[in-house]
Amino acid sequence: MNRTNLAYLIIMLLVVGISVAFAYSGSVASNTEKVSVTAVELEASDEAFDKMMQVLTHKRCVNCHPDGDRPRQGEDSHHHNFGVQRGSDNHGVAALRCQSCHQAENNNFSGVPGAPEWSLAPLSMRWEGLSRVEIATSMLDPTRNGGRNLEEIVEHLTEHELVLWAWEPGIDASGNPREIPPISKEEYIQAVKAWAEAGAPIPEK
Ligand code: HEC
Ligand code: HEC
Repeated sequence: MNRTNLAYLIIMLLVVGISVAFAYSGSVASNTEKVSVTAVELEASDEAFDKMMQVLTHKRCVNCHPDGDRPRQGEDSHHHNFGVQRGSDNHGVAALRCQSCHQAENNNFSGVPGAPEWSLAPLSMRWEGLSRVEIATSMLDPTRNGGRNLEEIVEHLTEHELVLWAWEPGIDASGNPREIPPISKEEYIQAVKAWAEAGAPIPEK
């Protein structure tokens, strides 16, 4: 091997070495990027789920999604006064129909809350006593959620008047304002949409 050839060989080795190093650092960089994007997405959907669940597990919702045949009332979720019962159509029994007392709007003189179609969520949609994971699972299960697909669930969660009532619950029979969920309505609606867009994943707990 003469000098020129040797110099040529050294240069070639350097070029190959440098490009291998570049390629390697490039793939490492793009891999970490990929991993961290997924982690960020996952974290974002977990955060959205957390926010959504702080609303769904609130008594403003659960009082109407009870386990059993009696609505619940108030911040302590006591059984509804006057022995009010679910009835066969979830609108109460003959003498105590929900609509005899609950109108389409809150009555802030008597303290009777109101919204259109005020009635008890069917027993298949009971949330009382369920964990967040169980509520989400039930909510997405068409055999229990009234045959709704994800799009219809999102619509119900973000637009239905009985749901939105929770942020304007009026005052109770003793004249005290009812508590509203700990997350604002706008933030909750955003969270529901973000969670659904991420594919409505249910975390392990
Ligand atoms: C006045 C009683 C009442 C209140 C308060 C109420 N719901 Fe409901 N909810 C119902 C009734 C009744 C249905 C069944 C409606 C139907 O199937 O058409 C229902 C159904 C649902 C469904 C669809 C069924 C399912 O299991 O997926 C969702 C979701 C839901 N409610 C969410 C909420 C949330 C969230 C809140 C609180 C922010 C809330 N509801 C507060 C009465 C209520
Ligand atoms: C005889 C009148 C009457 C009838 C009938 C009646 N309610 Fe009520 N309901 C009230 C009054 C009054 C309050 C408010 C009590 C309070 O705040 O102290 C109330 C409160 C509630 C609350 C509490 C909301 C909350 O988050 O604190 C729910 C849920 C409810 N009713 C559901 C129903 C359902 C469902 C029916 C029919 C199955 C029904 N009620 C029938 C009078 C009635």
